[in-house]
Amino acid sequence: MVKENRVVLRNHGELDPLKIDEYIARDGYNALKKAFNMGQDDVIEEVKASKLRGRGGAGFSCGLKWLFTKQVEADQKYVVCNADEGEPGTYKDRMIMQYDPHTLIEGMAICGYAVGADKGYIYCRGEYPYILDILNTAIGQAAEKGLLGDFSIEVRYGAGAYVCGEETALLASLEGKRGEPSCKPPYPTVEGVWKKPTVVNNVETFASVPSIINKGAEWYSSIGDPDYPGTKILTLSGDVNNTTFFEVPTDTTLREVIFGLGGGMKDGKAFKAAQVGGNSGAFVPESLLDTPIAFDSMESISATLGSGAVFVLDETRDIVDVSCRVAGFFVHESCGKCAPCRIGTTRIHEIIERIGQGRGNAADLVLLKDLGSVMAGSCLCGLGQAAPVPILSVLKHFAEDYDAAIARAGEVC
Ligand SMILES: Cc1cc2nc3c(=O)[nH]c(=O)nc-3n(C[C@H](O)[C@H](O)[C@H](O)COP(=O)(O)O)c2cc1C
Repeated sequence: MVKENRVVLRNHGELDPLKIDEYIARDGYNALKKAFNMGQDDVIEEVKASKLRGRGGAGFSCGLKWLFTKQVEADQKYVVCNADEGEPGTYKDRMIMQYDPHTLIEGMAICGYAVGADKGYIYCRGEYPYILDILNTAIGQAAEKGLLGDFSIEVRYGAGAYVCGEETALLASLEGKRGEPSCKPPYPTVEGVWKKPTVVNNVETFASVPSIINKGAEWYSSIGDPDYPGTKILTLSGDVNNTTFFEVPTDTTLREVIFGLGGGMKDGKAFKAAQVGGNSGAFVPESLLDTPIAFDSMESISATLGSGAVFVLDETRDIVDVSCRVAGFFVHESCGKCAPCRIGTTRIHEIIERIGQGRGNAADLVLLKDLGSVMAGSCLCGLGQAAPVPILSVLKHFAEDYDAAIARAGEVC
């Protein structure tokens, strides 16, 4: 039976988030003190050796990102925490910020010290207004005790746009501009907010760092999958018995998550599919549930771990209807800056809607696949590149559902 391993969530439910002394009593801010004594290069080396990779979706090496930022000569550098958390079904970052804000603050301060940045921002999802006070109180307490050295943190919040989770759009929004993505390179490590070198990391990534500094890279890299070590917080929703969150080693399989920790399917119904990684993730069939959740394992089955959301569907769910809703989400959230995304998301939705209404034909399936491959190769940012992923996965694994929808007439999507 798979067990949780709470590294990031080690303090969850164990302390009052508004009382810094309770965090300090549980080893809090020891890692930051230790980092100050280690020196910048050794801190970066330790994070690199831990093989910690981004928990926001792209899976890039955290240590390398910090190294690239440190290496750039600049009069000012920044640390930005991506707390936009707009992926449907995802609330892991909220669990960290709401219940243990100091773990995030400590991780950001360690990063600031390591890369030579004295200013940090937390870009928080606009739908989390109740977290702003918690974050501001915790930041104020840490600063008042002089724990952060010369590092300061400001909390900013978005207006609820999914695209603002994409790092270049986030940085534009942080500068007060329209939240639209831009071409990379230059990467934020070289030219980030206000054109200064900037580390952008996810909440869970920063919150992993204090334990790595305290317990060492070797300890961390021995947990879970060797290429994507450590733990991952998953948020489980849909037709399972336990719709909640878990922190598990990264070599845990989807089956262990859904049928072990998740308690299996609700009402004794059979499993149909799990959409992994949020709305931009693939739908995974039963035959692939023994795949570990680790980043590369998921890629090997053309899926993504993404934000760690796992949305489970039982046998009664209409996969054409579900994928139509997913496609509609991307129409709504496309910022419209690039044509392949603006037009492609709309066309995909139209085609699926048509099929769901019994007005589709076999040529529509070819069109969907063509559109998907054009968008993956030509959209400006990950939103448009990933929008076809769930649709293509459904066409691959649940083709018979689409064929049946094409064969029948009538129902409205
Ligand atoms: C449309 C879109 C939405 C995204 N939303 C988020 C988000 O809510 N939180 C997040 O950390 N990363 C999000 N990302 C990924 C970020 O662009 C970036 O890779 C991440 O913040 C880097 O941090 P990490 O290396 O710690 O994962 C999103 C990417 C795209 C394309």
